[in-house]
Amino acid sequence: MTSDKKTLIAGATGQIGSSVGEYLSRAGGWNPIGLARTPDLEADYPMIAIDLTNPEDCLSKLSGITDITHILYAARFDHYGGELESKDINVAMLKNLIDAVEPYAKNLQHVHLVHGTKFYGHTIAKRSVPYREEDACGNYNSFYFEQQSLIEQRQRNKNWSWSISRPHAFCNYRTDEPRNLILVVAIYATIMRELGLPLTFPGTPVSYMAKTQFSWLPTLAHAAAWMMREPQCANQAYNVVNGDPKSWSQLWPLFAEYFDMKIGEPVSSSFAQFASDKASIWRSITEKYNLIHTELLEIAQWPYGDYVLSVQWDVISDMTKIQRDGFNERVDSENMWLRGFDYFRAQRIIP
Ligand SMILES: NC(=O)c1ccc[n+]([C@@H]2O[C@H](COP(=O)([O-])OP(=O)(O)OC[C@H]3O[C@@H](n4cnc5c(N)ncnc54)[C@H](OP(=O)(O)O)[C@@H]3O)[C@@H](O)[C@H]2O)c1
Repeated sequence: MTSDKKTLIAGATGQIGSSVGEYLSRAGGWNPIGLARTPDLEADYPMIAIDLTNPEDCLSKLSGITDITHILYAARFDHYGGELESKDINVAMLKNLIDAVEPYAKNLQHVHLVHGTKFYGHTIAKRSVPYREEDACGNYNSFYFEQQSLIEQRQRNKNWSWSISRPHAFCNYRTDEPRNLILVVAIYATIMRELGLPLTFPGTPVSYMAKTQFSWLPTLAHAAAWMMREPQCANQAYNVVNGDPKSWSQLWPLFAEYFDMKIGEPVSSSFAQFASDKASIWRSITEKYNLIHTELLEIAQWPYGDYVLSVQWDVISDMTKIQRDGFNERVDSENMWLRGFDYFRAQRIIP
């Protein structure tokens, strides 16, 4: 690995942006520079405060950094829970960044975009699984299709290349990220157990039986770095998931066993509805078990949990292409979940 890379990470404070930034900074040679409106002042690499919706801000802060070699694009404009993100704003953000960097960075080598399975339209229609990278886009209202078209068009006849990762629900062990599925389930189970209730699944029987998948963020960070590095990844998209699709009906008994609870049937409810009147119970649990003080509606984003649980049909990405091209890291999802519960116990978030 040469040490003359300089890598812009757009969305450096986000879930994947911070994981990639941390990884590239530790790996050495990538010389990351983070971009976000509110930079992380604790990060161990430099960050620039920038508003990607503002073309002048981008030009004035980036066009002078002429030795940028790589861009890792993991920015996404503000959105909450599972609703569809704005296509126009997200496409404009990528365009503003490319306009401010590409004409000036004479040694630009690669642009990587972090996208996801919304490309296949997994939220709007059942289609044959596993999803393959060459499948037609299944949701033209998501910003992924237009960002991909933009980057393909901008790359034409240029010396640099692009790649795209298509992960699914991000999982990581962090206490400062409320969009955190493992934490949602851990707190839900803790409260249900304290109330003497079985671990019911707050969703429909259909969602309980459908297969879904997860992306362990450290592995996604490794995969993104691999794509930015390897010539065979030039101008390619890759699915990046743990590789062991599971139904909630397979995971739920494991969770019940971990928390030493009886398992309940699916109930047509939701995490958001559940959490709406449990703030005081949660406060008393944190006091009773001497946990770190946390507010129930702040520590975890409950509607996000509902979005991930509400799978209507099998959502499975094919991992043949990435494996064929040389990336072989796989994650055992069951172990990922259980070690996550261990982590939140060790952090004194749950008893
Ligand atoms: N989260 C998931 O489970 C998941 C699953 C599959 C795919 N994906 C995809 O992965 C990509 C990254 O998602 P994520 O969850 O890591 O993102 P995220 O946590 O929502 O972070 C978004 C990042 O973008 C930055 N940002 C937002 N608006 C900005 C602006 N106007 N100017 C500059 N920076 C701006 C934010 O920083 P500031 O707010 O400080 O500006 C933040 O660093 C997205 O394409 C997403 O759809 C996510």
